[in-house]
Parts: sequence; structure tokens; C-alpha cells
Amino acid sequence: MELAMLGADDWPIAREVRLRALKDSPTAYIADYEEEVTVGEDRWRERFTRMHWVVARDTAWIVGMASSVRVAGRPPYERHIESVWVDPRYRRNGVLRFILAQLAAAEPAVTEWRVWVLDTNTVARQVYDRLGFSPTGERQLLADGSGRREIRLRFGR
Ligand SMILES: CC(C)(COP(=O)(O)OP(=O)(O)OC[C@H]1O[C@@H](n2cnc3c(N)ncnc32)[C@H](O)[C@@H]1OP(=O)(O)O)[C@@H](O)C(=O)NCCC(=O)NCCS
Repeated sequence: MELAMLGADDWPIAREVRLRALKDSPTAYIADYEEEVTVGEDRWRERFTRMHWVVARDTAWIVGMASSVRVAGRPPYERHIESVWVDPRYRRNGVLRFILAQLAAAEPAVTEWRVWVLDTNTVARQVYDRLGFSPTGERQLLADGSGRREIRLRFGR
């Protein structure tokens, strides 16, 4: 298993893995496949201007991905974790732990990470708990009228 930081020219890889994630685990995310499939090169390249993307690979096959985002208006030492996914066949092997460590190593000045998790995503909640994240107490109802809620977690080093 090896990790790779993607560059803007790798946007087709990020797109492909993101679409795999949305197909595999539709209930884990707010984004949906039909919407994400319409995101073209310009928007993907724009994402790379404010986000770091790390993938885990088993030879050429990508088995996991996560990104860290600098959010406008938030302190420079804080990042938001997004697009977290590991191929089901590779779960529970430390892949996400490995990816998050790589994102943290890539930005030594960052000391805090935040992530929104759907409150129904009990696996991810347990995983983040094991990884040392804790609830900030913030909750929000999604604006899409679905009645879904997400909770915010944070991790500091
Ligand atoms: C959430 C997800 C990315 C975890 O990836 P992973 O590579 O399996 O996680 P890791 O193997 O790095 O596990 C990290 C910790 O969580 C624990 N863990 C992993 N899966 C777990 C599960 N199903 N139940 C309980 N604990 C679990 C691991 O034991 C590990 O803790 P430990 O090192 O103390 O033993 C993966 O399950 C996934 O892609 N789920 C669907 C998409 C999703 O929900 N994404 C998150 C959106 S916010």
C-alpha cells in the first residue's frame, strides 16, 4: 500500500474515485452521484486550489481517498476533512488512518481538523471516535429538505 498526494492534473483520478465512493456509499455523503458526475474539469481544478487530496493505492488500484480543505473565513491552522472513502474490500486495515496521517504531514502548521458526519452514519462516527475526533456539539439540518442531520467533530494535535 502506498499513498500519493494528487496534483491538479490528477483531477480525473480524484473524480473517478469520488464517483466510486458516491456509488458505493450513497448514504454516507451529502453530495449525490447525479450531481457530482456533472462537475467538469474547471470546477475540479478549482477544488485543487484550496484542497489537498490524498489517495491510497494497492499497486495501480486506488483503494481510498480523503481531502483537506482550507475554508474561507476559518483560521489558517484549521482544515475541513471531506470526501472520505475507502474501498469496502480494504476497510478496517488502517487505510483511513494512514491517509489522514499523510494529510497532516503535508501541512505541519495545521493543528486542527473538522469533519461533518451524517448522524445516521454510525460506522464513520465510530471510526472518527477511534481516530481521536470528538463532537464539537454543533449539529445542522441539511438544507435539502431531506430531514437529515449532520454533526461536527474535531481533532487537534
Ligand atoms: C469510514 C471509512 C472511510 C473508514 O475507513 P477505514 O480505512 O476502514 O478505517 P481504518 O481502518 O483506518 O480505521 C480507523 C479506526 O476505526 C476503526 N474502525 C474501522 N471500521 C470500523 C467499523 N466498521 N466499526 C467500528 N470501528 C471501525 C478501526 O478499528 C480503527 O481503529 P483502531 O486503529 O483503534 O483499531 C470507511 O468505512 C468508508 O469508506 N465508509 C463509507 C464512506 C463513509 O462513511 N465515509 C465517511 C463520510 S464522513
